Amino acid sequence: MILIGPPGSGKGTQARLLSKRLKIPHISTGDILREAVKNQTQLGQEAQAYMEKGELVPDNVIIEIIKERISRPDCEKGYIFDGFPRTLTQARMLDRIFKEKNKELDLVIQFKITDESLTKRLSGRLICSKCGADYNLYFKLPRVEGICDRCGGNLLPRQDDKKSVVTNRLKVFKNQTKPVLNYYQKQSKIKTIDADKKSENLNQELLQLINVEVNPNGLPEKQSFPAESKEE
Ligand code: AP5
Repeated sequence: MILIGPPGSGKGTQARLLSKRLKIPHISTGDILREAVKNQTQLGQEAQAYMEKGELVPDNVIIEIIKERISRPDCEKGYIFDGFPRTLTQARMLDRIFKEKNKELDLVIQFKITDESLTKRLSGRLICSKCGADYNLYFKLPRVEGICDRCGGNLLPRQDDKKSVVTNRLKVFKNQTKPVLNYYQKQSKIKTIDADKKSENLNQELLQLINVEVNPNGLPEKQSFPAESKEE
């Protein structure tokens, strides 16, 4: 499953919830890259300058990350992509990888939200510098100002949530990622969700949308992913 939407539309938040519920890994290229930047690995050093400006990291770098990640044993039963693919080249490469592996993409979920709402979310985001937990000045406050509830780490804004960088990330989404939506539309793989609502409500809607029936233990019993037809 692929979650696509502009920055701040809630892909990461929902992918984490779905991952727990469906018991399949959440693969966020953004998280992988941020970890590499934090550890100043070769990948991190290469990616940093792009990320600071809100530009996309080159396709060949991203494809290598994805190939390595989905070859791990925990991916055998499926996975949720968050923030990948972001260009037509990445989408085409993914199709090729699936073909080689004899796998098929089930579903692409498009997160729709206004620029105004996502800008507010991103301007309020705070991340724990120690454990990476997510907080928000408008929607998810910590118990003690500036301190992580979970581990006591300091809460800081994300480097690329500065206003000027957000403007560029939005531009990049519109120019480079929107064509990916058309690509999947032609394959009848897309379902669209209005992401401009409370996280809990959005999650319920997502579960209904992907048609997951959940038993009392919270484990999925049946999953099916019928997509919208091309005409819709
Ligand atoms: P990435 O980390 O993927 O960033 P993004 O797509 O811009 O997404 P965000 O993490 O900002 O937003 P989100 O939609 O996940 O929302 P979230 O749930 O976090 O990419 C970062 C950079 O890495 C890119 O700019 C690029 O340089 C590089 N990169 C990554 N992938 C790449 C690729 N494939 N190719 C090339 N380069 C790549 O929520 C945001 C905030 O809103 C949080 O504070 C959250 O608490 C809050 N929130 C979430 N849901 C709600 C809700 N329903 N109501 C209120 N608040 C909410």
